[in-house]
Amino acid sequence: MSGYEIVRVGGQIGAAVTGIDLSSPMAPAVFDDVQRALLEYKVLVFRGQDITDEQQLAFAGQFGPLTQRHPTMRSVGDPQVLAVDGEDQRANHWHTDISFTPTPSMGTTLRSVVLPPYGGNTLVANGAAGYRSLPAELREVADKLWAVHTNQADQPRLGTERGEEVRRAFMATRFEAAHPVVRVHPVSGEPSLFLGGFAQRLIGLSAVESRPILDLLQSYVRRPEHVLRWTWSLGDVLIFDNRNTQHYAVNDYDDHKRVLHRVSITGDLPVDLTGKTSYAVQEDDR
Ligand SMILES: [Fe+2]
Repeated sequence: MSGYEIVRVGGQIGAAVTGIDLSSPMAPAVFDDVQRALLEYKVLVFRGQDITDEQQLAFAGQFGPLTQRHPTMRSVGDPQVLAVDGEDQRANHWHTDISFTPTPSMGTTLRSVVLPPYGGNTLVANGAAGYRSLPAELREVADKLWAVHTNQADQPRLGTERGEEVRRAFMATRFEAAHPVVRVHPVSGEPSLFLGGFAQRLIGLSAVESRPILDLLQSYVRRPEHVLRWTWSLGDVLIFDNRNTQHYAVNDYDDHKRVLHRVSITGDLPVDLTGKTSYAVQEDDR
């Protein structure tokens, strides 16, 4: 394939890709470019696609083995395809996908299926830019911190029966994992702030003591300069690197329908600056 373009859309995060047809596998040279771009820009949006669930599975599968099934979310047909449906839940909180498990996804692909007439943007924040922007004194503190991520975190409520059902299912099984606050990217070696809303407590501190520190560090990740705000068009297929980003689904589309299909790629154990790896939190560690 030739004639494709990968164009940066923001100074710190995001690029748009045109001229690549995802209905068939990318040729190795094209895929190399795409992988390099994903490392650099953290989020890529492929415009003008007309693909099926099967083709989305194949696209995501080029990046690595797929997440077999989400620990708590419902799938559509194939267990690897999740419905991101505004009637089930609205992820209007900053998070890194399944960071409450020891091996959060490497990346997530999202395909627009039904879009609201307005709103419903997806925000993605660059955790590596967040880390780079820390003052040196604060960076030294962050470098040593570890956080416990849990799916028992307080999340926005929809206030509908269906929303409550989905919320209960999401929290029915308790998941907790400890991750370094500063994660080293396994491919680029770039350090990033690895937090998000599932991070509820810092190891060695109480939840109350942890909160202002978590909020302070998060404020560096969520700076507008570090955030891509994507306005969806039909035909958009988005992929983000879940190893150094957080995302947020803006809940401003009232009662309109919004459905994306999500396929995630299996991730590895996060590593801190000294090489120590993440772990599942057992009863005794709480
Ligand atoms: Fe998510």
